[in-house]
Amino acid sequence: MKISVLGPGNMGKALVQQVAAYVKGQVLWGSRNPREAEELARNLGLDGVSVVSYEDALQADVIIPAFPAAAIMEWALVHQEQIKHKIIVDISNPFNEDFSGFTTAWGESSAERLQSLLPESNVIGAFKNTFFKVFENPVFEDRKSDVLVTGDHEETVLRFIEAFDPLPFRFIHAGKLANNRTIERFTLLELELAVRYGTYPYISLQLFGIKEAVPVS
Ligand SMILES: NC(=O)c1ccc[n+]([C@@H]2O[C@H](COP(=O)([O-])OP(=O)(O)OC[C@H]3O[C@@H](n4cnc5c(N)ncnc54)[C@H](OP(=O)(O)O)[C@@H]3O)[C@@H](O)[C@H]2O)c1
Repeated sequence: MKISVLGPGNMGKALVQQVAAYVKGQVLWGSRNPREAEELARNLGLDGVSVVSYEDALQADVIIPAFPAAAIMEWALVHQEQIKHKIIVDISNPFNEDFSGFTTAWGESSAERLQSLLPESNVIGAFKNTFFKVFENPVFEDRKSDVLVTGDHEETVLRFIEAFDPLPFRFIHAGKLANNRTIERFTLLELELAVRYGTYPYISLQLFGIKEAVPVS
């Protein structure tokens, strides 16, 4: 499996390190400025990761665009044809500019929007509730951070969970993409709680009462 993470921002950096360390396969890190990203990769000790342009990163089977939500939609429209039949992992939360609300209306989600722009790709929603600092230490008081995984194509959800399972997170099958209407909105509440309790940007989910991460069908 070839996986690419696009973008050198907070989430891009956090994800590429985890993917390189734990997921089997070739890892590409896409950047607008590959020379700068190469230096960043060297500093992070990412020897096995190939730093490439955003364009070259599209050759992967699984693509994680770690861009702001609006930029992901623009990217999807431009590359619709090239990313046909690929797995696109949507990590975005459609917060407005001052983080006081959302750019989506009630009853909408970024993940569903992305899937509707990419009808021939398989969109997976994941890592939306995991703030970037958590990737440095996803185990808190002996419990792994949960990652809610959603998708409208059952086989792809299970494939994603299997491939990402070695990461030190607990991946929970969270149903269809429509559940991101809740998942994405919950992230803003997490942010408020993290600020209130002084842990920002270290906050994520840990659900109580679930033993098995993947339901047996
Ligand atoms: N921060 C978190 O803790 C967190 C948690 C969960 C989910 N998320 C989601 O993860 C995504 C990335 O968040 P982040 O915090 O990593 O953001 P960030 O640090 O601002 O990084 C975003 C990256 O996207 C790239 N980019 C490409 N096109 C862009 C455009 N048109 N406008 C702005 N940037 C563009 C930028 O790199 P270039 O300019 O070099 O291309 C930039 O490095 C967002 O969708 C966010 O909702 C974030």
